[in-house]
Amino acid sequence: MANDVKNSDLIELITKTTPQRKKSRWPAKLDDLQSLTGLILVIFLMFHLIFDSLIIFGNDAMYKITKLMELDFIIEGGSGVPVTIMGVTVLVIIAIHAALGIRKMPTSYRKYKAINTLSKTMNHLDSRLWILQVITGFVLFFTVTVHTYMMLSNPTDIGPYASADRFFSENMWIFYIVLLVAVVLHAFIGLYRVSIKRGWFGLSNTTNSKTRTFDKKVSVAKRNNLKKIRNYLIAFYLIIGLVSIAVYTYKGYEHRDNVGERYNPSSAHLKNI
Ligand code: HEM
Repeated sequence: MANDVKNSDLIELITKTTPQRKKSRWPAKLDDLQSLTGLILVIFLMFHLIFDSLIIFGNDAMYKITKLMELDFIIEGGSGVPVTIMGVTVLVIIAIHAALGIRKMPTSYRKYKAINTLSKTMNHLDSRLWILQVITGFVLFFTVTVHTYMMLSNPTDIGPYASADRFFSENMWIFYIVLLVAVVLHAFIGLYRVSIKRGWFGLSNTTNSKTRTFDKKVSVAKRNNLKKIRNYLIAFYLIIGLVSIAVYTYKGYEHRDNVGERYNPSSAHLKNI
């Protein structure tokens, strides 16, 4: 087995540089992949929470989007297969994203303490956000996988009554509050950190074009704008998420004597689906 290992790989492993004395490009490539998978998950989440919140506008609105996801405009009556495919795809993306994230987690209490103390000494909020990112990532490792697996294994058990029963009669509302808070913080703090690291949203262009020097004022102003957008997004998604959880739970309470019954659309238009 040991003979299968190339000398160049061994050199790279020990010295972190290639035999040609170039810094290995692997860490950067893995970082790119982590940012890309993170971005895909944030976009997924933004659509997901909006679709989910349609319950606020009534059972028919949620029923309609559920049927759309089941591709009922192509497959008569809809099918659970598209939801299962989406669930498996999302789980694979989550697995890649989490595996790459684990590399950066402090591997011992000592390391965690060192990072924490350093961030406190510097009073640097962005470093503290990194710690929050590690904690929420850890919570999500369990909650998102359980939730996604539950959805993909029972893809047709989604709908105004089925979901509401889960929230109230299966006591899932507590689980969903934990999932919501962790995922919203993780997603938008992550997006903010990646934007700064990669210079997105004009942050790369913080150099004064005349003097060709780093313009601290421009940089700080742009960062502050980005922080504002991050906070608005967190507040918006937490509010619509928490209101949806409250609505689902209340509907589940009202439906508690008929658990297992599935919703039938009430409007004339939807009756024709
Ligand atoms: C394809 C996979 C997924 C499907 C089909 C799905 C579907 C659903 C449904 C129908 C609900 C309403 C509650 C219920 O019926 O039990 C829900 C809630 C929720 N899901 Fe997912 N989900 C998926 C993956 C994910 C992922 C990957 C995340 C996080 C990145 C996530 C985050 C949430 C959150 C935070 C809630 C709480 C609801 C709220 O606050 O409005 N879901 N999901």
